[in-house]
Amino acid sequence: MSPQSPGSGDSAKRAAQLREQLSEHNHRYYVLAEPRISDREYDALYHELQVIESENPELITTDTPTQHVGGAPLEAFENVAHGTPMMSLNNTYSRDELAEFDQRVCRLLPEETFTYTLEPKIDGVAVSLRYEDGILTVGATRGDGKTGDDITNNLHTIRSIPLRIHSDRAPALLEVRGEVFMTRHGFAELNASRNEAGEAPFANPRNATAGTMKLLDPRIVAERPLDAVLYGTGAMQDVTFDTHIELLETLKSMRFKTPPRIWQCDNIESLAAALDELEASRHEFPFEMDGAVIKINERRFYDMVGATAKSPRWAIAFKYEPEQAQTRVNEITIQVGRTGVLTPVAELEPVLVAGTTVSRATLHNAEDISRKDVRAGDHVIIEKAGEIIPAVVRVLTGKRSGDEKEFRMPTTCPACGAPVSQREGEVAHRCDNLHCPAQVKNAIRHFAGRGALDIEGLGEALVDQLVDAELLKDAADIYALGDRTEELIALDRMAEKSARNLLEGIEKSKQREFWRSLFGLGIPHVGAGAAQTLQQTFADLDELRSASQETLEAIDDVGPIMAKAISDYFADDAKANLVDRLRTAGLNFTRPEGAANTAGALTGMTVVLTGTLPTLSRAEAEAHIRNAGGKSSSSVSKKTSYVLAGESAGSKLEKAQKLGVNIIDEAEFLKMVSD
Ligand code: IVH
Repeated sequence: MSPQSPGSGDSAKRAAQLREQLSEHNHRYYVLAEPRISDREYDALYHELQVIESENPELITTDTPTQHVGGAPLEAFENVAHGTPMMSLNNTYSRDELAEFDQRVCRLLPEETFTYTLEPKIDGVAVSLRYEDGILTVGATRGDGKTGDDITNNLHTIRSIPLRIHSDRAPALLEVRGEVFMTRHGFAELNASRNEAGEAPFANPRNATAGTMKLLDPRIVAERPLDAVLYGTGAMQDVTFDTHIELLETLKSMRFKTPPRIWQCDNIESLAAALDELEASRHEFPFEMDGAVIKINERRFYDMVGATAKSPRWAIAFKYEPEQAQTRVNEITIQVGRTGVLTPVAELEPVLVAGTTVSRATLHNAEDISRKDVRAGDHVIIEKAGEIIPAVVRVLTGKRSGDEKEFRMPTTCPACGAPVSQREGEVAHRCDNLHCPAQVKNAIRHFAGRGALDIEGLGEALVDQLVDAELLKDAADIYALGDRTEELIALDRMAEKSARNLLEGIEKSKQREFWRSLFGLGIPHVGAGAAQTLQQTFADLDELRSASQETLEAIDDVGPIMAKAISDYFADDAKANLVDRLRTAGLNFTRPEGAANTAGALTGMTVVLTGTLPTLSRAEAEAHIRNAGGKSSSSVSKKTSYVLAGESAGSKLEKAQKLGVNIIDEAEFLKMVSD
């Protein structure tokens, strides 16, 4: 469709409207955590905008919410100059030095009245976002402070970063500065899924963030749980802020996520009290906080106080010592996960760290152990990495007696005795026995767990019992338990009533949503969120199964790694068989009515694609068909609703002509799916 075509003015208006609505809903969801509409309603708006944009490519703007998916992989990052240098802060760990900072400021501003602000110091990666006329044009790392890497594509994937400043009078230029980070929860999920996939885990959320920001493929970045808090500015035109608090309030009104708490303090005593309060609430923040940042509030004093070559004199970072503890490794044991990955675990002398007693720490993999040279019997320093999973930081080698035992990865699985192997390119060791009881137990636990099929009465201990008693060999066996009630009742601690409750719980699980069944399968890299995305895209299991890797990759939030994991899963005969048995047992693998991405212009229809389309790739066209409720098929029959034909269409087109099937071109197709 050409830009002059009738209706494009309306499209432009509608697109602008949708953009504003979507960016407001993004803000509500990702910044305020107070969504107003359901995911489904959001998806419908998003899809409507996608359709308008694919029909009218000239309407696509850099700030359109559909651009949150970051584009094609880069060869390397370009360099970009910051408008004003990105400085860093002087650090202190002591309150005495904080008092010295205050004394120096008071000396430099003898006659002035001023206040301080105190806010959490987020342990992430510093970034600078350049907004020109309100639109995010460049996002960069700090680099050497003067120039950084252009990571705009990667930053585009972070939904809490607005692509356009929300303001009636956006400044001509505003560099917004802040920190990109992962929440503790997001980090823990990422590491758990890397572990199950045999990949090396990240040491802590900051390393995970830094590693992610360096990726050249934004589609992989999009799969990572990144977030951003903005707390400062660089170069700017048309705006000034009298105080730091005003600056933060303005950023907030522009729809940035700003520090979750901020204190204003008149003097060093009130600063000390604020510091106490912040420290006491340290673990309540969803992200890693490694201290506090103290700034003069009144910005007119910044120049008067000045800066050293690296850092301003009007601010200081008060850093907390990492919460570590010393203890002894009694033993190194092995855990076998649901995908067969062997994880060595340090069984520790119990010790208190960051408010909880820790008696186990993950040692990740054999490589990690040999790098740190951890041996059974060693005295070690442990730390809560991301304050969730305790990790061994280092060994106190001076305390060795000589009786410590070096660790060797077992050559056979401790749970089943099968040989252990290492796949090419993986750090993990795996037990390759699909029937390994430890794997089976963990896979079933995941399947029956809260986030997945949520089978009431099927807790961890019972799963162990059922697997040990050979009543369960895989998740599909759960649905045959109804025929084995006598054996069930014969189990320890199982009475007729509890067996009945369990069977009721199992029956109920058949009604769960499609995405829960999908998540329950435990496909590597497919978390609950991804499973929901897949449900929105595919009407049922068959559609998902027959989707090519390319089609999967064309879905927002599905990157190449996840797409491959899904394809590999369904290509594996044993897995495919399990899924078939689950379906036969009555598990729900169909999307509920109306949960698709659209009103359904093609609901119930089949479309065959042939030839090369002028603008859409095959995967994009297939995505449109699915989003409109239709199915795409590879062969033409009388039942085919439409043949979508492009350049050099061959035999399929001829067959369609012979059978009298409707033949449409891309423009007609796009019009149809947008109607
Ligand atoms: S203000 C002139 N505020 O900590 C630099 N920095 O160790 C102004 N950081 O470089 C920085 N949270 O990357 C500021 N609330 C916060 C912060 C914060 C984390 C980082 C930032 C900075 C580093 C200094």
